[in-house]
Amino acid sequence: MYRICLRALITLLLLVPLALASDHGGVSSRAFVDGPWSLVQQGTTGVSAMQLVVVSETSAVIFDKVEHNPLMVDGHIAWGAELNINTQTVRALNLTSNSWCATGSFIGNGTLVSTGGNPIIITGTSGLQAVRLFTPCSDEMCDILEDPTRIRLTSPRWYPSSARISDGSMIIIGGSMIGGFANSASINNPTLRVLPSKEYQRNLGFNGLQIPMQFLQDTLNANHFPIVKQLPDDTLFIAANQQAMIFDWKTNTEVLRLPDIPNGVRVTSPFSAGSVLLPLTPENNYTPEVMICGGSTISDTQNVSTISAETPASAQCSRMVLTAEGIAAGWSVETMPVPRIMTDLILLPDGRIMIVNGAQTGVAGYGAPGAEIIDAVEDSFADNPAFTPVIYDPSVAAGSRFSSDGIPASTIARMYHSTATLTPNGTIMLAGSNPNMDFTEMNSTIKYPTEYRLEFYSPPYMSQPRPSYTGLPAIVDYGSVFRLSITLPSNAKDVSVVLMDFGFATHGVHMDQRSVKLVSELALDKKSLTVTGPPTSALYSPGPAFLFVVTDGGVPSFGHRTIIGTGASPPVNEGAIANMLNKTSDPSAE
Ligand SMILES: *[C@@H]1O[C@H](CO)[C@@H](O)[C@H](O)[C@H]1NC(C)=O
Ligand SMILES: *[C@@H]1O[C@H](CO)[C@@H](O)[C@H](O)[C@H]1NC(C)=O
Ligand SMILES: *[C@@H]1O[C@H](CO)[C@@H](O)[C@H](O)[C@H]1NC(C)=O
Ligand SMILES: *[C@@H]1O[C@H](CO)[C@@H](O)[C@H](O)[C@H]1NC(C)=O
Ligand SMILES: *[C@@H]1O[C@H](CO)[C@@H](O)[C@H](O)[C@H]1NC(C)=O
Ligand SMILES: *[C@@H]1O[C@H](CO)[C@@H](O)[C@H](O)[C@H]1NC(C)=O
Repeated sequence: MYRICLRALITLLLLVPLALASDHGGVSSRAFVDGPWSLVQQGTTGVSAMQLVVVSETSAVIFDKVEHNPLMVDGHIAWGAELNINTQTVRALNLTSNSWCATGSFIGNGTLVSTGGNPIIITGTSGLQAVRLFTPCSDEMCDILEDPTRIRLTSPRWYPSSARISDGSMIIIGGSMIGGFANSASINNPTLRVLPSKEYQRNLGFNGLQIPMQFLQDTLNANHFPIVKQLPDDTLFIAANQQAMIFDWKTNTEVLRLPDIPNGVRVTSPFSAGSVLLPLTPENNYTPEVMICGGSTISDTQNVSTISAETPASAQCSRMVLTAEGIAAGWSVETMPVPRIMTDLILLPDGRIMIVNGAQTGVAGYGAPGAEIIDAVEDSFADNPAFTPVIYDPSVAAGSRFSSDGIPASTIARMYHSTATLTPNGTIMLAGSNPNMDFTEMNSTIKYPTEYRLEFYSPPYMSQPRPSYTGLPAIVDYGSVFRLSITLPSNAKDVSVVLMDFGFATHGVHMDQRSVKLVSELALDKKSLTVTGPPTSALYSPGPAFLFVVTDGGVPSFGHRTIIGTGASPPVNEGAIANMLNKTSDPSAE
């Protein structure tokens, strides 16, 4: 009796502070498994990974700019590839428009939509108004589909962002009409577009065409690749430069202008920060909280030729809960171990965030001789790569959230045009980096060459006995209940289910990256798990997802792929499409 009471007391004492700190615990606020991290360099990508997106349980798609890559397709150089994550082999994809600084999102039927790009032509066509469709397949026969006579952007977009919204379509925001180190009034495209074209635009008076957005005027000059997050109340969080807002796309209204990012930090290209929506869980009532890390305090009106590649980036992380009380409380500020620009924030299945890649000084971009900044390293506008990743645990008290304990540093600089993503097995894959006008030989003496080498970080959970499961339906509708057969490591007590979108990575902006914990119940025999699909389409927009069963210490299963919703194609309006086709021309025909 005494013993039991003592144990209960100890448990209580242990639980109380943890419970108080568990406002955003993700999986739960328990200790994570200990053990070694590992880093391996394995395989090459054939094209440099400016954009990276996991498209199946075994593969990822990589998009690059048009440059003299070694990989060929259809008799010309390739700038897209599908990578087998397990064998690290690539097959070239047949992109015909330049995807340089494009964006991408999956839509509700599982098709990946890449939009925008660049007019530079070595081979192929301008990508400024391009729409590229890729529907994942298991036989390596699928390829990029482009049909600008039917499907195209209505205005040029270089450096736009995108998000999959709650009806399964894609919203495309901002960018420039032509390129530049930063945006400016003369090249700005301060509009949004929803793809495919549909009814609501007609009601707003923009029948299939782009819709003006004041925020993109107010955030000049540093608003390339705005940060966009779909929120559980079906609005969007959008941040650019030093500003942020809540936007309702359905009524095309700015709901609320949020407090500026503190301390003069700018967070979007060329002062690129990393950002993440912290894990949404039933415990936190699916309350959204955003975190933005890194960036720069350099002025966005400073003459570019007076900026230095040795100016320290910002080490600030800013967090804000996006509720009335959270917004009233404002941003809370923390400091990373080192400053970072062009960093990637990767949600892990255990609810923590890996902060990886980037540089400690300088800004995004590069310039050929004559168009350089001060102290440029050859063409690179950044220097002092941030080689050591940091793990951020949002569930513990401020002051002890950052740690690089036991994490091996990379030796490969991953700065401008580098990427990172979680993989279905739980490793973190790093790829790309190319602060150069064109492909540079790997054996060249350039300090920061075109990087094709892949790296994989394995967190300690990879070397633990892991849970496994079968029985995931190919399609999981909202609120639907399904049963997984599970095998747990012995002594497993804690079991949870996490639904993840790994996002589309480019320039540190991981379009659609998301972690949503589902309600689940473990059978008494611990052999099955009853899981309820996400409650609403605003919480997880219709489209692909990876589902992890996570046990004690944050050890995840393999993440199998499913489609949330019905798998149907998003709504279209033929009248809006006809008007779009009537009012715009096919840029590839010009
Ligand atoms: C590549 O795409 C272009 C344009 O869609 C098409 O004309 C061509 O046949 C494709 N090549 C291959 C090998 O699929
Ligand atoms: C920026 O600085 C360069 C070099 O000092 C100068 O040639 C150029 O005119 C300046 N540009 C502007 C817009 O002031
Ligand atoms: C560098 O590698 C390329 C092949 O990728 C080769 O053609 C070239 O001769 C090499 N240059 C040097 C200096 O080794
Ligand atoms: C996933 O990781 C485990 C180690 O935790 C390894 O044994 C297994 O082979 C990996 N599976 C795949 C498909 O990579
Ligand atoms: C998904 O929807 C888009 C837009 O309507 C369409 O072009 C594409 O072919 C669809 N994909 C599938 C797999 O049905
Ligand atoms: C657009 O519609 C108008 C009026 O119906 C027609 O005269 C015109 O030829 C159309 N233009 C295009 C590019 O289809």
